[in-house]
Amino acid sequence: MQIGVPKEIKSDEYRVGLTPESVQSLTLAGHTVWIETQAGQGVLRTDQDYIHSGAQVVSKTEVFKQAELIIKVKEPQPSEYKLFTPKHILFTYLHLAAEPELTQALIQSKCTAIGYETVQLADSSLPLLKPMSEIAGRLAMQIGAELLTKPKGGMGKLIGGLSDTPPAKVTIIGSGIVGQHALASAIGLSADVTLLDTNQDKLNLMSEKYKHNLKCVISNLENLQKSVLDSDIIIGAVLIPGAKAPKLIPLDWLEQMKSKAVLVDVAIDQGGCFSSSKATTHKIPYFIQADVIHSCIANLPGAVPLSASYALNKATLKYIEAIANHGLSKAIEYLPELKLGINLANGDICHPSIRRY
Ligand SMILES: NC(=O)c1ccc[n+]([C@@H]2O[C@H](COP(=O)([O-])OP(=O)(O)OC[C@H]3O[C@@H](n4cnc5c(N)ncnc54)[C@H](O)[C@@H]3O)[C@@H](O)[C@H]2O)c1
Repeated sequence: MQIGVPKEIKSDEYRVGLTPESVQSLTLAGHTVWIETQAGQGVLRTDQDYIHSGAQVVSKTEVFKQAELIIKVKEPQPSEYKLFTPKHILFTYLHLAAEPELTQALIQSKCTAIGYETVQLADSSLPLLKPMSEIAGRLAMQIGAELLTKPKGGMGKLIGGLSDTPPAKVTIIGSGIVGQHALASAIGLSADVTLLDTNQDKLNLMSEKYKHNLKCVISNLENLQKSVLDSDIIIGAVLIPGAKAPKLIPLDWLEQMKSKAVLVDVAIDQGGCFSSSKATTHKIPYFIQADVIHSCIANLPGAVPLSASYALNKATLKYIEAIANHGLSKAIEYLPELKLGINLANGDICHPSIRRY
């Protein structure tokens, strides 16, 4: 198959869809990989590294002209919309529920678009979201801790406290992959943590793991309000696969929160789970509204592209190989979890959660 990898162009995005090592696996199997010049710059890989792996290094236009399967990391940006045609199968993070303009552009292009984040195994887990969620959870806690410090505009509190000074109070909403990794970091930093989820089984697992170091509470309006108003850092890590994130913190709670409390909305890629959330970037990572610091970075793993690109490729390569070796329909027979990954086919929306938006 002809496989294409454009350079990522989203703000502060340094990951790459295929590492030279993945390119080599594909070219040795007889596929042709067209990679945009300097696509690997953010992970310290040169065009020469890709040429050694068997790739053809070309311009972005040529990537789209030659390739049938397009491998990216983040959702296409407006300047890329016009490059998609009916022959393309796009495989990338899409987050279409939060991106109506992109959805329309891809519908019009009549391409097939597979979202990494909706590839779903029979046990409901999301194997291609998982590695990035692990990174995002860790980074979310780091960012939260940093935004408590005075030079960053914060309230001036040490997250773990001291022997006779209490630690910061952290609320984590969502006990999935992001939540669990943010939790591990928060506990490691000796914060005073409350975890909320609508799924009691997930809470029980974390309660068993961290015992008296963690308070677990079922997520409902009353418990959310109590915990949010009492916290220094709140991490939003909820997900309803494919759908827009539910808004869990209404605007009028902001006035009642602690001065300079920090909201880190990891679910911003699905539209954000706080009513006041607006996307921020690594370069301008936060804004302040009603004296509450908001950080809502939609591509957190973009800050650690080396770790993130290799972790992503480890998860995606078997799906890319299956599509390249057998075509999409046959690949779904071997790897049925790919079916829910298909968000759009030939101009039609296929994913049940996206259809509603
Ligand atoms: N910003 C980034 O860079 C980045 C990176 C990776 C993931 N994400 C996003 O982070 C979010 C979480 O991802 P994940 O992999 O942890 O998902 P996950 O499916 O593993 O976990 C989501 C959790 O949210 C819980 N949940 C759903 N509704 C809830 C509610 N009303 N109250 C409390 N909990 C609720 C679910 O029960 C589940 O445990 C997603 O929106 C994902 O797209 C963002």
